[in-house]
Amino acid sequence: MKKPEDLRSARWFAPDDLRSMGHRSRARQMGLDGNDWEGKPIIAVINTWSDLSPCHHHLRDRAEFVKKGVYQAGGMPVEMPVQSFSEQFLKPTSMLYRNFGAMEVEEVLRSHPIDGAVLLGGCDKSTPALVMGAISMGLPFVFMPAGAMLRGNYAGQKLGSGTDVWKYWDERRAGTIGKEEWDGVEGGIARSYGTCMTMGTASTMMSIAEGFGLCLPGASSIPAPDAGHKRMAAACGRRAVEMVWEDLTPEKIVTWEATRNAVRVAMATGCSTNAVIHLLAMARRAGIPLTLDEFDAIGREVPVLANLRPSGDTYLMEDFFYAGGLPALMAELGDKLELGAMTVTGKTVGENIAGAKNFNDDVIRPLSNPVYHEGSLAVLKGNLAPDGAVIKPAACNPDFWQHRGPALVADSYAELKEIINDEDHPMTPDTVLVLRNAGPQGGPGMPEWGMLPMPKALLKQGIRDMVRMSDARMSGTSYGACVLHIAPEAYVGGPLALLRTGDMVVLDIPGRKLEMEVSDEELAERRKAWQAPAPRYERGYGQMFSQHIEQADKGCDFDYLRTDFGAPVPEPEI
Ligand code: FES
Ligand code: MG
Repeated sequence: MKKPEDLRSARWFAPDDLRSMGHRSRARQMGLDGNDWEGKPIIAVINTWSDLSPCHHHLRDRAEFVKKGVYQAGGMPVEMPVQSFSEQFLKPTSMLYRNFGAMEVEEVLRSHPIDGAVLLGGCDKSTPALVMGAISMGLPFVFMPAGAMLRGNYAGQKLGSGTDVWKYWDERRAGTIGKEEWDGVEGGIARSYGTCMTMGTASTMMSIAEGFGLCLPGASSIPAPDAGHKRMAAACGRRAVEMVWEDLTPEKIVTWEATRNAVRVAMATGCSTNAVIHLLAMARRAGIPLTLDEFDAIGREVPVLANLRPSGDTYLMEDFFYAGGLPALMAELGDKLELGAMTVTGKTVGENIAGAKNFNDDVIRPLSNPVYHEGSLAVLKGNLAPDGAVIKPAACNPDFWQHRGPALVADSYAELKEIINDEDHPMTPDTVLVLRNAGPQGGPGMPEWGMLPMPKALLKQGIRDMVRMSDARMSGTSYGACVLHIAPEAYVGGPLALLRTGDMVVLDIPGRKLEMEVSDEELAERRKAWQAPAPRYERGYGQMFSQHIEQADKGCDFDYLRTDFGAPVPEPEI
């Protein structure tokens, strides 16, 4: 147990010297006095609220509940705003800013008199950004998930975030629905604060944070508008104070066992493909050298149990919560998890989920009746993706699990748009539609373009899926036969850059292969003719991004933010 004099914040407040007098007088300037800080852990409430972050719109209010919890446990809360990560509004893509946010969190914690933290977030990149930064800083913290919004509703129909937008958009383009219905969907699909309520990237990442042991049990499944969400927020505040006294730092929680548990949870939720990149980055911040091979191995062992869109039928996060939420799913996984892993509660995973009940075994399936017999993701390799690519077999038509067809290549999104809108563009249902230069460097920021829109030429024939391939990511709410995250990306000269329209491409999901039928000699010739494009940015954050971003198979972190990069950063001089 820590003693009051061991608190990190005491270095700012306790000494009888000039600087500390300055800190105390400035705290008094805010109406505080020694009763607020003496012998009390100072807990940063790291808040990603903003007026342009609809998924986090309740976090300003939730921060008050977290603070209440901190006071209840004898700590002092300080709310610290950081980058808000609005998946919908941040351009060119929120992924460009994940590492930016992680750096901000790490440095905000490091540079202030903070003993522990509660991290408030949930919209896609916010979870990995917050967790990566806080792991790197190493102070005790709890992740407080923003929670999912209510189920969408239009004309008596249940609507799922993202998933139904794509579906209705294809119908609109095919001319089967009109403006009125489209407007109705627009008004009904996001009808409360909170994150997307399909098992998209947000819900996946919040579940993964809980799988890592970084949330209070069940926290990631509580819908944002539920009163229980407020009570959970207060509990996070209380627990953060206790964790400071217990010195329960992230290195004691984010171990190999916890990392494998997080991957298993991801697979069982039918996770977003984005989970791969973020999980790699999060684990590596804790010095765990997770690779794509581990994902594939675990994916073969852990089936999809959460029957939620887009992998499952009709259910959404609200249904998952009523069915028992993540603790119930983890209880179904049982011995497939490493139950001895430590968590933020100070107890093991096994202790946390003991007694968890599954109230609806159609929503949360038992191992004996999974949604899909393998995990959510498969890792493909071959001469098109020597460092790997990712596909979500559970969200794609089984007809495409083994496929051979001619490539139709677009070098940019603009070119792709021309192809898909040209009703006469030559192609067949066998065509493999390819977008390249959409990776970490090329995108830039690896935008979620990977569910390439279906070409009009095929939509008119009633075709709704085809094999698509890119070095981009795709939204966690997307679906279809989409090969993603091809590494190395085309922009840095990965073999994808050498593919030409008409080359035959072979996709073999059971065999985990992605090949182009082009000889090594021919590829060597094409390589000679290939010219490296100029970096996307010449100044500012983008320039730094271009210089330091790693490829998708390593998690797209900045090389210099890796835990093993250089000597550890010392505590600041005070
Ligand atoms: Fe925020 Fe989907 S847009 S979670
Ligand atoms: Mg998303």
